[in-house]
Amino acid sequence: MLSENKVCRIGILSLALLLSFTTLASALPPEHEPLKPRVPIQERAYYRNLQAPLYQDTKASPSDVVEAGSKIYQRICVNCHGVTGKGDGLSAGFLPMLPRNFTNCLFQRKRTDGELFYVIKFGSWPMPPMVPSITEVEAWTVIPYLRTFCQH
Ligand code: HEC
Repeated sequence: MLSENKVCRIGILSLALLLSFTTLASALPPEHEPLKPRVPIQERAYYRNLQAPLYQDTKASPSDVVEAGSKIYQRICVNCHGVTGKGDGLSAGFLPMLPRNFTNCLFQRKRTDGELFYVIKFGSWPMPPMVPSITEVEAWTVIPYLRTFCQH
C-alpha cells in the first residue's frame, strides 16, 4: 500500500518530469557567436570582396531576384532558418547550435555578400554545404532574400 506521502511525492516527481520534457521539447539551442567570421582566414580577403554575378547591391536587388531567392529559401533553408528567418525552423531543435538569425542587423552589416556565399556553398558545421543541391547561381540568388530579414 502506498502511503499518502508517497503518492504525493510521486505526483510532484511526475509533474517535474513532465515540465522538464515540455521545456526540452520547446528549447532551441543557443546561437554560436554570430559575429565571428566563418570564412577561414586564408580565404577571407578573397570572399569578402567577391561580387555577386547578378547584381551590385543586395539591398537594392530587383524584386524578381528577391522573389526567386524567396522560392529557394522556402524550398531548402526554411526547415532550419525558419519562416521568419530567426533560426527557429522545424529542424532547429535537433541541432547543436541555432541556425543563423537573419533578423540580426548587426550580423547582416558585418557580412559581405561573398562571405554569405562562402557558407551557403561550403556550409559551416552543423550547416551542410548547399552546393551542389542548389547551383552557385541559386546560392547568389538567395542572398538578396536573406537581406530582407533585417528591417532597419
Ligand atoms: C540543416 C539545417 C540548415 C539548413 C538546411 C540551412 N542552414 Fe544555414 N545555417 C545552419 C546553422 C546551424 C548555421 C550556423 C552555423 C554556425 O554557427 O557556424 C547556419 C548558418 C548560415 C549562415 C550564416 C553564415 C555566417 O557567415 O555566419 C548563412 C548565410 C546561411 N546559414 C544560409 C543558409 C541558406 C541560404 C540555406 C538554404 C540554401 C541554409 N542556410 C540552409 C543550418 C542550416
